[in-house]
Amino acid sequence: MRCVIFDLDGTLTQSHEGILNSIAHAAETMGFALPPEAERMKFVGPPLDYSFRNYLGMTPEESMRAVALYRERYWSVGMFENRVYPGIRNLLRMLKRRGDWVAVATGKPTEPSRKILEHFGLLRYFDRVVGPDENDHRAEKETLIRRALPETWEEAVMVGDRCFDIEGGRKVGIRTVGVCYGYGTEAELREADCDETAATVDALINLLCPGEARPAGAFLSVEGLDGSGKSTQIGLLADALDRWGFEVVHSREPGGSPVGEKIRDILLDPQNRGMEPLTEALLFAASRAQHVREAIRPAVAAGKTLLCDRFVDSSVAYQGGGRGLGVQRVLEINREAVDGTWPLVTLYLDIPHREALKRRMAASDPDRMEAEPEDFHRRVEEAYRAMIAAHPERFAVVDATRSAEEVGKQAAEQVLSRLMAAEEA
Ligand code: TYD
Repeated sequence: MRCVIFDLDGTLTQSHEGILNSIAHAAETMGFALPPEAERMKFVGPPLDYSFRNYLGMTPEESMRAVALYRERYWSVGMFENRVYPGIRNLLRMLKRRGDWVAVATGKPTEPSRKILEHFGLLRYFDRVVGPDENDHRAEKETLIRRALPETWEEAVMVGDRCFDIEGGRKVGIRTVGVCYGYGTEAELREADCDETAATVDALINLLCPGEARPAGAFLSVEGLDGSGKSTQIGLLADALDRWGFEVVHSREPGGSPVGEKIRDILLDPQNRGMEPLTEALLFAASRAQHVREAIRPAVAAGKTLLCDRFVDSSVAYQGGGRGLGVQRVLEINREAVDGTWPLVTLYLDIPHREALKRRMAASDPDRMEAEPEDFHRRVEEAYRAMIAAHPERFAVVDATRSAEEVGKQAAEQVLSRLMAAEEA
């Protein structure tokens, strides 16, 4: 069995956001001015007391109070203002698939470290998480790495972003990999004499699992009436997924491929007033056939999380409901185009059509669909509801009449919990 031991901050997670916010909280509460944003990264790494005294000019007493203020905020909210590096989820899944022993050896105390991993749904991938105990705050990295290893082992590798990780691994006598995407520099890692370096998570995957296929990613779609806040919510959802370490790829329909984008122009051109509903449905399906084969399937096969702005449900709603072709007929038209490729989760931004209309009125020039009368959009809403009722397992329905922030939070929770369940399966 091979053992892979990871450092946490700068290797698995990018943690400076919470650290800097908590330093800002302490400084502002005490009336100290912070340096400009660009210079704040120097606070990440050195002991807090050092930074407060040297960078902000605090007295030892002031610094003690600042450290207390920092800790109060960091251990409640700051530790979750954090991002898993994109691709790390896939790497951990691959290591588990190989049957490796996977552990963390970090300078952060054990409990909060476990909480961070738990928060991002990653704890399940680790056989052990080791940080300093209450009574040995100064534990050396070497000691932590030894504790992270099982009782007997043959082959082990330490992965970290700072010289301490590499030096620790060398003292234990194991292979060391320095990652250059974290908080250390390549020069620092080389000076510490690491065996290999990885510039990106992708390179790290190739080092640790050479030639192995990525686990399949996921296809997600977002649906809703025009005016439901879809663009804003796609942005927020992509950010949440990215924070969790998913490799997000964006796409949209109609479009999503060069051919599809050309079809999109025809479909949305306000001058094409005479287009037959059947022609319209076939064009949407044609764009989709290209999109599924050229973009969606390859992205999912490469382990990406493809987030698509609209998919078949839009055809069912707009052409089936709005244009009156009927749900079944539109599904039939799309059968070959989709050929079994359905989203794992479809986020539906639920807003009554009248409410959506009010929002659209406030926005800019309508396209050919948006310009349709209210009754058209009522039928679109009804057809969406029929799809949701028929496929409750696929849809995540969120009340989109609330504030963008609230909607975003609920949407992320629902989508992430389904992705987690799928990762487990
Ligand atoms: P959308 O990308 O949401 O428009 P915008 O970029 O202006 O927000 O979608 C374009 C329009 O196309 C929208 O009104 C819905 C419609 N549509 C269909 O009628 N059928 C379909 O299959 C798809 C994908 C979209």
